[in-house]
This record gives sequence, C-alpha cells and structure tokens, in this order.
Amino acid sequence: MASITIRQLDESLKKQLRLRAASHGRSMEDEVRTILRAAAGPTEVTRPAARRNLPAPATFVTPTGAIATRQILLIIGGGIAAYKSLDLIRRLRERRMTVRCILTAAAQEFITALSASALSGERVFTDLFDTGSEFDVGHIRLARDADAIVVAPATADLMAKMAGGHADDLASAVLLATNRPILLAPAMNPAMWARGATQRNLARLIEDGVVTVGPNAGEMAEQGEAGVGRMAEPLDIAAAVEALLDKTLMGQALMDQAGERPLLGKRMIVTSGPTHEPIDPVRYIANRSSGRQGHAIAAAAAAAGAEVTLVSGPVNVPDPQGVRIVKVETAREMFEAVEAALPADCAVFAAAVADWRVATPGREKIKKQKGKTPPLTLIENPDILATIAHRKAQRPTLVIGFAAETENVIPNAKAKLVRKGCDWIVANDVSPQTGIMGGETNSVHLITAGGVESWPPQSKTDVAQALLLRIASALAGDKV
Ligand code: CTP
Repeated sequence: MASITIRQLDESLKKQLRLRAASHGRSMEDEVRTILRAAAGPTEVTRPAARRNLPAPATFVTPTGAIATRQILLIIGGGIAAYKSLDLIRRLRERRMTVRCILTAAAQEFITALSASALSGERVFTDLFDTGSEFDVGHIRLARDADAIVVAPATADLMAKMAGGHADDLASAVLLATNRPILLAPAMNPAMWARGATQRNLARLIEDGVVTVGPNAGEMAEQGEAGVGRMAEPLDIAAAVEALLDKTLMGQALMDQAGERPLLGKRMIVTSGPTHEPIDPVRYIANRSSGRQGHAIAAAAAAAGAEVTLVSGPVNVPDPQGVRIVKVETAREMFEAVEAALPADCAVFAAAVADWRVATPGREKIKKQKGKTPPLTLIENPDILATIAHRKAQRPTLVIGFAAETENVIPNAKAKLVRKGCDWIVANDVSPQTGIMGGETNSVHLITAGGVESWPPQSKTDVAQALLLRIASALAGDKV
C-alpha cells in the first residue's frame, strides 16, 4: 500500500495543510486522514448534530505551536429568537468551543440567565455595573478574552447601538471595546429589517468589518407576518462562527509568518475613485466608483508598514490614515501623479479611470440651443495601468489592475491581464444588480499567471486585507 510523507509535499501545499490542521486542532497527519476519509464517503464521518452529550471544551494548537482554547462570547439580544440562542450554545459546545454569555435586559424578558448558564456551564453576565463581574472579569476583559463575539439575535436596536458606537449597557460596551472579530445573526420584523435606518446601520457595520449570517425569509412569530427577518438556524450560525475563526486564524498566521508589519520598507502606489473629465466649467463625464475599495487598500497597505502614495479622483470617503494623498480630477492628472510617485515596489490600480475625455471642453458653460445638441468629440485617455506595466525602467515589481466587468467576468479579465501587461487582475462583476459599484461589499476573483481564485463576498476592507497579505507574500519572494 502506498504511503504519503508530508515532508515531500510542496511548500505551498504544506503551508495550507498546516493552517487547516491548526484551525481544526489536529496534527497534519490527522488532517490528511480526515480529508481522505471525507473524500472516500460519509461512512465514518462524525456528525456533530447526532452527538448526545456535550463534550468538554477542547484545546487546539495554533500555527505558532501554542495551546489555545476557542472562546466565544455570545451576546443574546432581546427578541423572540433568543430561545434559539440556547440551542446555539449547545451547537457551539459540540464544536469544542467554550461559550460565555451576556444577556441584555431585553433578552431576560425572553429567556433566563439560569438556562444560559446551565447550557454553557459558565457564569452569565448581564450588568455593566455589577461590582462582582467588574472585579473578577470586567467588560474590557470580557471583550478581549474571546476569540470571536457572536450577537444572536442581533436586534435592530443592538445594531443601531453598535453602528453609533453606544456603550450604555454591558453588551454595547463590550462590542465597542473589543478588538475581536464579530458575527451578527440579525433577527427582527421584516419591516424593521427593510427600513432605511437598519440597512444604513448594516452597511456601516459591514464596512467596520463585522460579518453577518442571515436573516432568512419565512414566517415570523407574529401571526400573519412573513418576510426576511428570521434569525439564521443555530447550525448555520455555528458553521459561520467556525468559518470566521478559521479565516481569522489564517490571516493571523500569515501575518505572524510575515511579521507584524510585512510591508515595512516597501513603497506602494494605489489609484482610487473615479476621474472627472470636463465638458465645460460646470459639467463633466464621471462614473459610479466610490473609491472605497482603493482607499481600503491604501489603508491596509499603510497598516502593514508600506510607504503609500494614494492617487485619488474626486470621492466622498474619508482620507485613510498614514498615507500620502495626491488628489486629482482627470485621467491625465492621475497619470502624471502616478509617474511622479515612481519608483515603487507595488502599484495597485483600483481607480475607475474614464476611458475618454472631451477633445475640446467648452471654456464657458455651453448654452442650450433649441433643437441642437452640442457636438462632443471624445478622445482616448492615457491607459495608466498599461503604460506603467509596460515600462522598461522603473516598472514596479508587482503591478495589479482591477477589471470591473458586467458580463463574461473571468474571460474578459484574463484577456485584460494579457492586454495590460500587469501581473495580477482583481476582477469583479459590477452589474447594477450586484450593488458593488459604490457599495460596501465586494465579490472578487484574483487572476494571476497561475490561475483564478474566487474569493467569497466580503467587505471591501476584508478584500483589501486579503490582497495585502498576498502582496506581502509575493514581495517576500513566495510563489503566489
Ligand atoms: N485603467 C487605467 N487607465 C485607464 C483605464 C483603466 O489605469 N485609462 C486601469 C483601471 O484602474 C483598472 C484597469 O485599468 O485597474 C482596468 O480598467 P477597466 O475600465 O476595467 O478596463 P478598460 O481598459 O477601460 O477596458 P473596458 O472598459 O473596455 O473593459
């Protein structure tokens, strides 16, 4: 019978295997066995839902070799779905996580602290000013001790408090004080969910890096009410918690490998936002780009230690911290600013540059003349990405373009990679129904000479973070 030696696997496979094994708390050999068993069929697979007894919380080995316990802080909000959160405690414990609970005052109208405590096997926290808990735990420690914080049900009120940065009870104070990943399982009446205020709060929270699961569509507890607003099922929430922990662990491991600031000493140029091409002194040609993605990349690059020049078209998003910003209006100005910022180790072209400009913009406002439309002749703008990627001198080591497409996303983006001469293309579908152009989230494919990787939908901040980790590995000489 053939045998596999892990030592003989290629380095990138070994790296993936190590991270995967660590995230499941298994040895690399055990992880291989589990993968093979799963591939062979479901015969011996343990189904957590079928387990009768709650196992004791287990420990796992982090990629750096340390022993750790996966601790979840579950914040239960006040809604009828709170009863499902009791089942969620069981589901999380089945997955070998310890669960500490905070019950808001409203949650205690639906379930008791005693039932949450009995199921979690831990003391339950309810009061910001409880001298006992402030003495032995304290809300800052509660916030920081957890590997992840889960809010289920996340009511409209809790979401509004989080989005507004309130801290007037234990749950909101912990959510404001934490530096841990947060998962929300919203649950509310469909009309409340659809309301502009809730959707604005949701968009703000996603931009802040919060992850959500659900809500689902279906019947509500109130008679005759149906629609989107039911809390996701406990098993789905538990799966989302696992995915969040895996992702965090993976990101942390890559950061650990590369050091805290993996781009220290590297120079980066990032373009962002639309360009405005004048028709006359008051009118211009533009597009719907918000600049959110480009700005998030510049911010993540600066946080990773790079010296960043952000060349930005006109946008309404705040300037990122720690970057040099050159604000421009037109494609030609953007081109000049990018050339002036060379040399650089990496250039990311996230701007939605107007392909054409008006050949001779009016010096004065073009007046309307009855029955006549002004003859606007368009000429091509410089292609900034293609020009920089084809430079003989001072070409950045890594040149990355974006491909905003509305059809045939991957084939078009692959053709663009070749045509522009860049190293990677980040491609996305910007058809109006996706809400990506100008929106908070992004769903991208990373196209390199080695192939296509499709990333899950995530906030633009998370896309930036993931891209930065890849850039850091590539500049460090890893094969990507
Ligand atoms: N780009 C650029 N300068 C231009 C046009 C585009 O630097 N004049 C860059 C964008 O920042 C992006 C990439 O090229 O990184 C692709 O932009 P896109 O608008 O998708 O491509 P186009 O070349 O304009 O092709 P098309 O519009 O036909 O899809």
